[in-house]
Amino acid sequence: MVNQEIVQYIESLLPEKDEAIVAMERYARDHGVPIMDALSIETMLHILKLIQPARILEIGTAIGYSAIRMAKALPNANIVTIERDEARYNQALAYTEQTNTKGQITLLFGDALAMSDEVKTYAPFDVLFIDAAKGQYRRFFELYEPFLTERGIIITDNVLFKGFVALDERVEQKRIRQLIKKIQAYNEWLMAHPRYETVIIPIGDGMAISKKRGE
Ligand SMILES: C[S@@+](CC[C@H](N)C(=O)[O-])C[C@H]1O[C@@H](n2cnc3c(N)ncnc32)[C@H](O)[C@@H]1O
Repeated sequence: MVNQEIVQYIESLLPEKDEAIVAMERYARDHGVPIMDALSIETMLHILKLIQPARILEIGTAIGYSAIRMAKALPNANIVTIERDEARYNQALAYTEQTNTKGQITLLFGDALAMSDEVKTYAPFDVLFIDAAKGQYRRFFELYEPFLTERGIIITDNVLFKGFVALDERVEQKRIRQLIKKIQAYNEWLMAHPRYETVIIPIGDGMAISKKRGE
């Protein structure tokens, strides 16, 4: 989406990260765990620092990379995060211990689509961050949006799906085409939402930022 040389240029300007964070990035790369790319996480952390949320709900922990980055960037924030893959959940537990972020991060194990009763006990949230199964984005949004505060925002990652959303006719694999259709449907639904206004930022895999209308 954004020219790769420009991405590399911006990345070259980023401050050095803690060794523990670099080790998590290495682990994710070596084990094929999808974590947020450098520019997307920096952009999201910057937005979060501007709004200073007290509570964040994340759908899709993976190994805890984004949750730990949020906890480090926002020392006064608490993060509740859900993961359904047991090995990744356990890895996230280990990383929160290693990075001394256990006190800020509540890790929940299970399918986010079936956990709203448990999550409700931690509500309300200032931010809902959706970064899990792309085909289910609308369901995550509808299930957890009611747990937001009046000024709460929703961040959805991967809404441009490597740019495929704009190229669907040229994608051959049926499974990918079906996923593209679901993401396109989510984007159209989100952009026309009667209670939220949304901007889509073409960074990383595409990030949508939604805020309540009229705020
Ligand atoms: C893109 S990764 C999350 C990356 C993480 N937010 C980060 O940047 O470090 C998506 C994760 O969501 C999990 N996931 C997908 N659908 C889920 C669901 N319905 N409930 C809970 N976790 C889910 C997957 O197992 C995967 O580990």
